Amino acid sequence: MIKTKIIVTFATLNNTQKNESMNVLLIGSGGRESALAWKIAQSSANLFVAPGNPGTANIAKNVNIKVSDFDTIEKFVIDNNINLVVVGPEIPLIDGLADRLLAIPGGKAPLVVGPKKDGAQLEGSKDFAKQFMIRHNIPTAKYKTFNGDTYAQAVDFLKTLQPPYVLKADGPAAGKGVIIEENFDIACNELKEMFSGKFGKSSAEVVIEEFLSGIELSVFVLTDGHGGYTILPEAKDYKRIGEGDKGLNTGGMGSISPVPFADKVFMDKIETRIIKPTINGLIKDGIDYRGFIFFGLINVNNDPYVIEYNVRMGDPETESVMLRVKGDFVDLLVSAAQGNLNGKKCEIDSQTAATVVLASGGYPEDYKKGFVINGLDVVKDSIVFHAGTKEKDGAIVTDGGRVLTVSSLGNDIPSALQKSLDGISKISFEGAYHRRDIGKDLLKYV
Ligand code: AMP
Ligand code: GLY
Repeated sequence: MIKTKIIVTFATLNNTQKNESMNVLLIGSGGRESALAWKIAQSSANLFVAPGNPGTANIAKNVNIKVSDFDTIEKFVIDNNINLVVVGPEIPLIDGLADRLLAIPGGKAPLVVGPKKDGAQLEGSKDFAKQFMIRHNIPTAKYKTFNGDTYAQAVDFLKTLQPPYVLKADGPAAGKGVIIEENFDIACNELKEMFSGKFGKSSAEVVIEEFLSGIELSVFVLTDGHGGYTILPEAKDYKRIGEGDKGLNTGGMGSISPVPFADKVFMDKIETRIIKPTINGLIKDGIDYRGFIFFGLINVNNDPYVIEYNVRMGDPETESVMLRVKGDFVDLLVSAAQGNLNGKKCEIDSQTAATVVLASGGYPEDYKKGFVINGLDVVKDSIVFHAGTKEKDGAIVTDGGRVLTVSSLGNDIPSALQKSLDGISKISFEGAYHRRDIGKDLLKYV
C-alpha cells in the first residue's frame, strides 16, 4: 500500500498548524466505513473511527461513540483537534450532525464531508426529493404524495397507474420503506397499513409512483457546495438474497464496478441530465451541499432516470468503488469540504472491482450471531472488509446480517469475481452464506 503523506498547508483550516498531518474522524461502523477507512488510511492522516469495527481497528483508532451521540462526538472533535469529519451513514446527517459540528464556536469547527439537514432531505424525505427533481427538470418516475386524510385520492391515483404499484414511505425506513405490488387490492391494503404506521412516522406520508422497467446502477459524486464536483466510479449493487436476483431484498449482497452498460454515451447523459441539474438545483435552492451524492438510477431504454437520492455512499458499492479510486482521497475530501474542488478530479483505476458479501445464515430474516470467524488472515489477493463483526475473548465473531465483504480487482468481471470467491472459500463461520453470481448478469453488456 502506498502511503502518501498529506501535509496540511491550508491557511483556512482551523485548528491546524502547517505541516501537521490531519486528524480525521470517520463516523460509522459498517462495510462502507471499513472501505472508506481503508482508503483514507492510505493518506497519512491520523484516522479515528466512531465506533468502527474490528477491521477498522487494524488501520485506525476506534473510539467507542455511537453515531447518534452528537454531544460526545462534538466533545471528541474539540478535545482531539479533529480537522475533518467524514459521515458514513445517512441518519446522523438527516438528524443534523453536520450542522452541529459546523457550528462549534471558537475556531474549533472541523471541515465536514456530509450535507447539513437541508441537503440531507434529499434522502430524508422522498417527497422532498421528488419535488426537487420536478422543480429542476431531472428525469424521474411520475408521482403523487398522499397521507391518511387523502386515502381516497390515493386510490384514485393508483387506478391511473399500470401495475406493479410502487409505494414509498416518505421518511427513512432503513431501506425497507418501498413496496412494489402487482395486485391492486393488496396495494390499497398496504397503503392503508403504511398510513397506520407500518413504518412508524416515516409512512405518515407515502409517495406513489409509476413503475419504471430497466436495469439499475449507482452513481456517486463528491461535491463542494459551490458547483464543483467529481464523479467517483459507478457500481451495480445486487440487492436480492438469492442467485439470479431471486428472494428477499437485503442491504446488498455484492457489487461490481465499473458497470459495462454505463459507457461514455450513457454516462454523458447522466452527467448532463441528472448530475449537473442536481448540483445546480442545490445551489439555486440555497443548499450548500458538501459531501457525497449517491444517485440511484435506472436505465430505461438507454435513458437514465433517478429512482432515489442518498446523501451518503452505498453499501456494498463503496467496497468496490474505493478499490478503484486512485490518488489522494483525503485531498479530495478536504477540497470538497472546504468548498473548493476547483476542477480536481477523482483518478480512477481502469480495472474491475468485484465485491461479494459473506452473510449470516438466515439473513435478511432472523439469524444468530456470535459465531467464531476463521481464516481472515489467510486471504491474500483480496481485501476483506468487516461489516457485522465484533471481538469477543480474543476472537472475531459474527455480529450482524452482513458480516464481511471480500473485494478484489481483476482485468474483467470473471477474474475479479473469481478472486473474491477464492478469498471467501478461505473464510469460515457457522451458517455463512454468499452469492456466487455477482456481476454475471452484466457479461452480456461487455
Ligand atoms: P428506493 O428505496 O427508492 O431505492 O427503492 C428501492 C428499490 O425499489 C429500488 O432500488 C428499485 O429496485 C425499486 N424501485 C423504486 N422505485 C421504483 C420505480 N419507480 N420503478 C421501478 N422500481 C422501483
Ligand atoms: N446498496 C444500496 C444502498 O447503500 O442504499
